[in-house]
Amino acid sequence: MTMNKMPESTNIMVVDDTPANLKLLQEMLQAKGYLVLTFPRGASALKAAAKNPPDLILLDINMPDMNGFEVCERLKADEVLKDIPVIFISALTETADKVKAFAVGGVDYVTKPFQFDEVNARVETHLRLRRQQLELQALNELKNHFLGMAAHDLRTPLCGIMGISELLANQLSPLPAEKQFRFFEMLLASSRFMAGIVNDLLDVSAIESGHLTIERRMVDITVPIKQSVEINEMFASPKNISIAINCQEQLPQVYADINRIEQVINNLLSNAIKYSQPGTDITVRLRHENNEVIISVADQGPGIPEKEQHKLFHAFGKTSVQPASKEDRSTGLGLLIVKKIMEAHEGRLWLYSEAGNGSEFFFSLPVTP
Ligand SMILES: Nc1ncnc2c1ncn2[C@@H]1O[C@H](COP(=O)(O)OP(=O)(O)OP(=O)(O)O)[C@@H](O)[C@H]1O
Ligand SMILES: [Mg+2]
Repeated sequence: MTMNKMPESTNIMVVDDTPANLKLLQEMLQAKGYLVLTFPRGASALKAAAKNPPDLILLDINMPDMNGFEVCERLKADEVLKDIPVIFISALTETADKVKAFAVGGVDYVTKPFQFDEVNARVETHLRLRRQQLELQALNELKNHFLGMAAHDLRTPLCGIMGISELLANQLSPLPAEKQFRFFEMLLASSRFMAGIVNDLLDVSAIESGHLTIERRMVDITVPIKQSVEINEMFASPKNISIAINCQEQLPQVYADINRIEQVINNLLSNAIKYSQPGTDITVRLRHENNEVIISVADQGPGIPEKEQHKLFHAFGKTSVQPASKEDRSTGLGLLIVKKIMEAHEGRLWLYSEAGNGSEFFFSLPVTP
């Protein structure tokens, strides 16, 4: 995925066959902090633009060899250069010329003699519009990427459901009850798998559009944690994984949304179970330090290589660490949801993990509102 961003310093190209105009515009724009490149001819400007595309072009109309309209048409025909805003500079007294300036793809015009405040206002406006256009493009790419990943993850279980349903529908004679039961189990597992992804997607979508609601109160944090441990033990014990709670005595209450915190701990515990080998231990630790309670989930799993840790907490941020069992799903949404919930709580979130040495995920909650 490419992310288009306006460079740190803004490059403006000025093309005019009158040296005095070039000098004047260059001085004016440089005083505003722009990097300005000047060209007396259209052909040399086009060549330079192709090599290093500027952020905006100020373009004279009446020039020898190639006039400004033609230069602009060539820019617009170029896949890479076509979106650079072009502002014409001319003694545009003829309405026909003004109309043509827009017809060939110009976004605006400034007239000679220059009123610097006006030139600057127009340049700034078009740079801002261009920046917004680039931001929207990047967001759109991100959204497409997101949709593609979601569709890809949903397709596998959906194909499973379709395959099994077809098989059942095409059976001429009834299947033995045991085989039938096995097929229904598979249907249920695939449907659950899909429902899990859809729920996470709905959560991410609510979060991204700013609709994550948290209702914070002073609460005993051990309640949602014990509840989450109890639920997750159902998934851990078949794998012979134990979950221990190691809680400091007289833990103060924290200011948090109990349901959201349960979601956080559920995600961390389900990861710890999913990525660890059978027969290992998980420890949930709670301690009071300064003005916060720090909660952590430690496992004896494979650990996450340091150079891959930057992938965590992003949508579909999977690493090379795969679930220990083929039956488990991995979408890469869980930790993003965790991060967003923690942000809404103004809490901290971090991890210690090393390839081969397990992982410990930490989060903190304030003990006062
Ligand atoms: N405890 C852990 N041990 C090892 N790797 C982990 C652990 N937790 C997360 N990971 C790695 O980080 C990635 C992102 O985790 P995350 O919880 O966001 O997504 P997921 O578990 O793949 O899918 P889901 O959306 O169902 O949670 C995982 O794919 C895995 O590679
Ligand atoms: Mg997860």
